[in-house]
Amino acid sequence: MTTVFITGATSGIGKTCAEHLAAQGYEVIATGRNQSALDELKDKALENNWHLQTLKLDITNEQDISNATEKALAFTDGNGIDVLVNNAGYGQVGFLADLSLVQIKQQYEVNIFGMLAVTKAFLPQLIKNKAKVINIGSMMSRLSSPWSGLYATTKAAIRSLSDVMRVEFGVLGVKVFLIEPGAIKTEFHTKAISSLEEVDQEKSLYASTHRWLKNNEYSPFFAMSEIEPIEIAKLVEKIIVKRRAKSRYVIPFMARVIMVFNTIMPNTLMDIAMRKTFHLYESKRK
Ligand SMILES: NC(=O)c1ccc[n+]([C@@H]2O[C@H](COP(=O)([O-])OP(=O)(O)OC[C@H]3O[C@@H](n4cnc5c(N)ncnc54)[C@H](OP(=O)(O)O)[C@@H]3O)[C@@H](O)[C@H]2O)c1
Repeated sequence: MTTVFITGATSGIGKTCAEHLAAQGYEVIATGRNQSALDELKDKALENNWHLQTLKLDITNEQDISNATEKALAFTDGNGIDVLVNNAGYGQVGFLADLSLVQIKQQYEVNIFGMLAVTKAFLPQLIKNKAKVINIGSMMSRLSSPWSGLYATTKAAIRSLSDVMRVEFGVLGVKVFLIEPGAIKTEFHTKAISSLEEVDQEKSLYASTHRWLKNNEYSPFFAMSEIEPIEIAKLVEKIIVKRRAKSRYVIPFMARVIMVFNTIMPNTLMDIAMRKTFHLYESKRK
């Protein structure tokens, strides 16, 4: 039986992947920080006779990671995992001038260092099983828009890291894939907005943009073409099943269009479009 280990499985994409894959008959190890969410998942698994184990794992916690590798071996009778889905992550929004170094470091700590730490810790199991690693990046890897620029840099790093992993781990038999989603209907955006609460928005150099963003409920990009997390879960399953899956998927189609558009547009025009979209010129005049 194929064993799939998922980080950040307590909500959104990770949880949907865990439930979908377990329902399809995979052995799932669903991990996360939120114990009550893990307990709910476990109860649902028992009700449905799924092969699903839960495990507490904060991907920034070395002890949790070491414990997770041992438990994964125990759950699989020493065989180890066959698929690692690096999904856990969050979006710290805010203008670079407003964000504290603590917020900046924490964003990297989770989205990059945590993901790398988990992957490295599981490497012996991944190599032994010629496993697959599926990284969840973002279309933002190619769209460093204002306000979510810090988050975008972490997803650009995940894109680069996925390329390096694919080359380096590939010779060891481990296949690496990257999914770069556009807007997905999860709690991600609500959490991203709440990450802004620590920023003193009225003192910000961009106070008028903050006011505008508040009134417009962060609509410009994300209201556009949100899709359900099950679409990502099905794509993860497709990558697991396919012998020759593509190394990178951008989903939905609109996200691909935006990425291509951003690549072919001259920077000067794109900068103006971004400033206009985010009402930055008003901030400048203030
Ligand atoms: N939703 C979108 O539009 C979108 C688009 C592109 C990419 N993505 C990416 O998709 C992934 C999943 O996001 P989502 O949309 O499903 O959002 P979500 O519902 O907020 O889920 C994020 C998951 O990551 C977990 N997490 C955060 N920090 C963690 C840590 N230190 N250790 C372990 N788990 C941690 C969260 O756990 P807690 O509940 O404990 O915080 C949660 O389970 C993220 O990497 C995100 O960047 C999302």
